[in-house]
Amino acid sequence: MKKPSLFFLSATVIALIFACSKKQAAEIKPEGPTTVTTANVTYSNFAGALFQNKCANCHGPNGSIQIVWLFNGLASIKNDARVANSILVTKTMPKGSTLTANERILLQAWFDRNTPE
Ligand code: HEC
Repeated sequence: MKKPSLFFLSATVIALIFACSKKQAAEIKPEGPTTVTTANVTYSNFAGALFQNKCANCHGPNGSIQIVWLFNGLASIKNDARVANSILVTKTMPKGSTLTANERILLQAWFDRNTPE
């Protein structure tokens, strides 16, 4: 009787391992773009690209208006209250282009949430 019981034990162990790995696979979340919302907006999932696209031409390290405000990353936004002000209050920036209503809402939420990285 020793052999069959060992067989069943190994079969059980193998079945358990299989069941566990299957369960784990099912729990892994699919990789892919998450929708940016006012609740999860960050510098890396939204704001950074927006500043890069809408401000860097003029205010980036190679821009001609860097003397007024130099955009060179998150800190340059965090440490200058004029940035949020120019976009959301006076709405003088981005000069020469516009932001969509949705971009404004997300930016406002990002500033309200204290510019998370
Ligand atoms: C086409 C060039 C251009 C773009 C793009 C641009 N700016 Fe400006 N920015 C200027 C100029 C020129 C000034 C100088 C003041 C003026 O002419 O309004 C200025 C001034 C500023 C100032 C300082 C004065 C103030 O209004 O408080 C800040 C801050 C600023 N810009 C932020 C931004 C931000 C943030 C963006 C992107 C959302 C942006 N700018 C996009 C040209 C630009």
